[in-house]
Amino acid sequence: MKKILIAFGTRPEAIKMAPLYNSFRLEKELFETKLCITSQHKEMLTQVLSFFQIKPDYDLDVMQPNQNLFSLTANILNKIKNVFEDFKPDYVFVHGDTTTSMAVALGAFYAGIKICHIEAGLRTYNKLSPFPEEINRQLTGRIADFHFAPTEQAKQNLLSEHINSNNIIVTGNTVIDALLESKKILNNVYTNSEIQFLDSLLTPNKKIILVTGHRRENQGDGFIHICEALKKIANLPDVEIVYPVHLNPNVKDIVYQKLNNIENIHLISPLSYPAFIWLMQKSYIILTDSGGIQEEAPSLGKPVLVMRNTTERPEAVKAGTVIMVGTDTHKIFSTAQSLLYNSSSYSQMSTAINPYGDGFACKRIISFMKNLDHYEKDNQVSSIL
Ligand code: UD1
Ligand code: UDP
Repeated sequence: MKKILIAFGTRPEAIKMAPLYNSFRLEKELFETKLCITSQHKEMLTQVLSFFQIKPDYDLDVMQPNQNLFSLTANILNKIKNVFEDFKPDYVFVHGDTTTSMAVALGAFYAGIKICHIEAGLRTYNKLSPFPEEINRQLTGRIADFHFAPTEQAKQNLLSEHINSNNIIVTGNTVIDALLESKKILNNVYTNSEIQFLDSLLTPNKKIILVTGHRRENQGDGFIHICEALKKIANLPDVEIVYPVHLNPNVKDIVYQKLNNIENIHLISPLSYPAFIWLMQKSYIILTDSGGIQEEAPSLGKPVLVMRNTTERPEAVKAGTVIMVGTDTHKIFSTAQSLLYNSSSYSQMSTAINPYGDGFACKRIISFMKNLDHYEKDNQVSSIL
């Protein structure tokens, strides 16, 4: 029986790890699986846990209002030690590029525990963008033992960093597993008060533009320019903007200051995952700097304008499902305008194929973990250090 510890702390990690956690829990004969949340996020994490009906075994409870990266990293590292000592996992699973992932992986390395990295290999190779995520994921990649890469391109990035190819498994992104599973629940049984509220908020026959944003490198001037663009878009005929505003005070304060009480702009609280999926489905286009939304939206046929200057998701640009617009007011406005009123470029984007997965990523990860004993005998698990 292998002991698996899944660790995450923020909304996107929770969405992408929930189906994996639930898949491990179904294999009770082979794996003893426990969940540790760091609570780097609080309300936004609780929303996801309650939708997926997941109860953590450990909670590091680290979130502070307007937290900084120094204390966040130090608190996670200090507190995860006790979890490792209590549960003594054989494998720790971390996800992507957050400070939770990097600090838990570093702790697991100190404790001599094998590290499995989900959504491995994404790179911009620009250490300041996204900040601090690019370095978080590069550090995690250096110390991980197994790299579950969502795409072939991510695998190539890892190979170019001399990671042993035997330790890289291309799986697709678990976010598509989460999305498809949640869509099924939504279509079959799920109704909630948030969806009713959204339904009453939207004006029939208007094109809905869904907006999200939170990246640290966009905070300050970037968000000011984004808000200016949104004001101009809100003046276009027959459009309505819905913006669930991230709880980070460096985002929330400026967005409410610039956009509150503007006609055709609805600022609302972060939505639960099913309500957000419902809203994505209702939207015409999505403006975001989010990573996860770029991966989900193509499965729903929704064009995405990415308000960032760099991307670790070139597959989406190549597939034509997203356009990079940065944070320049004019570029955001003019690209949105042309998509809104040019039906041929809209239909090209909305029918492109999603390059991020087929909904079977968790199956591939579990299948690899089931065969790990044979695998480790056949291939000496190599270290890059
Ligand atoms: C974090 C991740 C980022 C990820 C994003 C997803 C790091 C450094 N950043 O950024 O990679 O893309 O989450 O959303 O790992 N807050 C609340 N309640 C919540 C969540 C946040 O009040 O449920 C507020 C708190 O004041 C908190 C602040 O937001 O201190 C910032 O949270 P933090 O996790 O440090 O940064 P994010 O911008 O959320
Ligand atoms: N999301 C959500 N509610 C919201 C906004 C986003 O559930 O109000 C989901 C979205 O579907 C995606 C994830 O949160 O799966 C993206 O999270 P975020 O943008 O915070 O982080 P990133 O993906 O940029 O790391």
